[in-house]
Amino acid sequence: MHTRRRFIQHSTAAATLAALAPLLPTLSWAADGSGLLRRKIPSTGEELPVIGLGTSRTFDVSLDPNDLAPLLEVVRTLANGGATLVDTAPSYGNAERVTGALAAQDDLRARLFLASKVSSTGREAGLRQIEASFKDLKTDKIDLIQVHNLQDTSTQLALLRELKEQGRIRYIGITHYIDSAHDDLLRALAKDKVDFVQLNYSVGARNAEKRLLPFCADHGIATLINRPFQRGELFAKVKDKPLPGWAQELGATSWAQVMLKFILAHPAVTAVIPATSKPRYMTDNLLAGHGQLPDARQRERIIEVFA
Ligand SMILES: NC(=O)c1ccc[n+]([C@@H]2O[C@H](COP(=O)([O-])OP(=O)(O)OC[C@H]3O[C@@H](n4cnc5c(N)ncnc54)[C@H](OP(=O)(O)O)[C@@H]3O)[C@@H](O)[C@H]2O)c1
Repeated sequence: MHTRRRFIQHSTAAATLAALAPLLPTLSWAADGSGLLRRKIPSTGEELPVIGLGTSRTFDVSLDPNDLAPLLEVVRTLANGGATLVDTAPSYGNAERVTGALAAQDDLRARLFLASKVSSTGREAGLRQIEASFKDLKTDKIDLIQVHNLQDTSTQLALLRELKEQGRIRYIGITHYIDSAHDDLLRALAKDKVDFVQLNYSVGARNAEKRLLPFCADHGIATLINRPFQRGELFAKVKDKPLPGWAQELGATSWAQVMLKFILAHPAVTAVIPATSKPRYMTDNLLAGHGQLPDARQRERIIEVFA
């Protein structure tokens, strides 16, 4: 009840509630973070809520309080809904600094799992960039740092391992965002041990199902799924299409939830990180982490819609 009251206090501008009206029947259980699905990070067994938040483009704003206000509501909505993971990068313009400024509000830092990236060549440049991330994120411990787009992977992973041993970062990983890099990700995973791999996977881009996701399941590697809406492009495919009756079987009240539930139904997926600048979309995305996930037959129906 306390969590629910806090959620409502933090996110109830009248306009926001009006925008949420279609979701209200399900909001009561979304407000209670306890119903949000969690999955284990295989390397430690720590549980991670399956819905996270990306920050590419959406958090690349100034540090002016007017620019920060809606994004603070996004992060409060995430945390009050029981989620924790925020994914950012030093190469996302101002997004990492904005993430740090928001995490410093209220008691948010302690409630978040902060993931960032390193995109440098050479150990010294990597270390400089990571030290700047600590400063920009205003934290002395970063939960996860990932080698961004496999840049200088072996050198940067060696550095990340050192920082992990020193207790400055908790997990290490690698990322990419296009199908044509999946074989490179597989080669890197076969060579170096990591806790996480971040990759693109969605109902519109299913290449990861062939080898990458099964490899992660077999080798105990946590997966973070980026571009779940293909940067928002997948919404064009369902523009003006009403939600079919079968979406109700899943408890889905929006196409975004259908797309996220499709991803979460893959057993190798640990969490998904849709980006948004809007609190009402954050609430919508959180709802996908509640209730039922599609079975094989329901997944086929979703694929047909987006074919
Ligand atoms: N190489 C890498 O490591 C890599 C590459 C790509 C992405 N990523 C990570 O993955 C995150 C997600 O990928 P992405 O940002 O490319 O794209 P995405 O999450 O597939 O799509 C983001 C877009 O979807 C819209 N959206 C979000 N929730 C919605 C909802 N419920 N209803 C309707 N529209 C909704 C957002 O609109 P609004 O802007 O209006 O809120 C935004 O424009 C990134 O932010 C980043 O953290 C990492």
